[in-house]
Amino acid sequence: MKSLLEVKNLVKRFSVERGIFKKQGFIEAVKNVSFTIEKGEIVSLVGESGSGKSTIGRMIQGLIQSSSGEIYFEGEKAELLELKTRAQTVQTIFQDPFASLNPKLSIGFILKEALAQSKNLYKKEELLKEVKNLLDAVGLPQALLNDYPHQFSGGQRQRIAIARALAMQPKLIIADEPVSALDLSIQAQILNLLMDLNKNFGISYLLIAHDLSIVQQMSDKVMVIKNGEIVEQGFSEQIFNDPKEAYTKNLLSSVPLLEI
Ligand SMILES: Nc1ncnc2c1ncn2[C@@H]1O[C@H](COP(=O)(O)OP(=O)(O)O)[C@@H](O)[C@H]1O
Ligand SMILES: [Mg+2]
Repeated sequence: MKSLLEVKNLVKRFSVERGIFKKQGFIEAVKNVSFTIEKGEIVSLVGESGSGKSTIGRMIQGLIQSSSGEIYFEGEKAELLELKTRAQTVQTIFQDPFASLNPKLSIGFILKEALAQSKNLYKKEELLKEVKNLLDAVGLPQALLNDYPHQFSGGQRQRIAIARALAMQPKLIIADEPVSALDLSIQAQILNLLMDLNKNFGISYLLIAHDLSIVQQMSDKVMVIKNGEIVEQGFSEQIFNDPKEAYTKNLLSSVPLLEI
């Protein structure tokens, strides 16, 4: 069996201007990163702010190009996939769902648009039925489908973003700090929802976090990233009970545990 996702020797250099003479230079935000995610797995990518986590997510989603390296979905080279196929393979949910939801569109419309694109559904009744199914799947009342993003709370907006991702029927969801902007009590609800979707639909996750407490109870595997390099990766139990790297030990010692 081919891995759902295989990332090989991924590198990303950004060009930056340095100093008063604005000399062109590069920063290497991602350095030779390799890993796999199997079907149904929850794999976490954990590291401090600026360590390259989002850049890795954006390359996998295809939002930015890698400088070198390869990305495969079930053995197929990602760059050879049609855009629609790629969107039906991998979807990203971001820290701030408000920024990614058009404020002028009702939730029903946002979800119908995604469904029409993904499933070629255009009949009104069929679309409405599917929208209601999506709202059920993410725990939002069907009665809210005519409401607009600003009428929802932060946690509800993240549920909407998850519903829109689900409309594409992805095999993998990149969850980039999905609860960092939410109150602690709401964080647990959203993480539980993500776990339910993993159990019920077999959706895999690349779960990006700067905080190990978020990922401890969810992850099958954990990768620790520092300055663009994965310094340690392994099964969750090993990383949490027997970390090898000083950097990982430091990350572990500085976190309170979140009960989910
Ligand atoms: N578009 C960009 N241009 C230049 N530098 C960038 C760009 N995007 C990210 N970076 C830099 O790359 C590094 C990694 O950023 P990022 O992947 O966002 O980190 P993280 O998600 O772990 O906080 C940081 O030093 C950041 O400033
Ligand atoms: Mg980030």
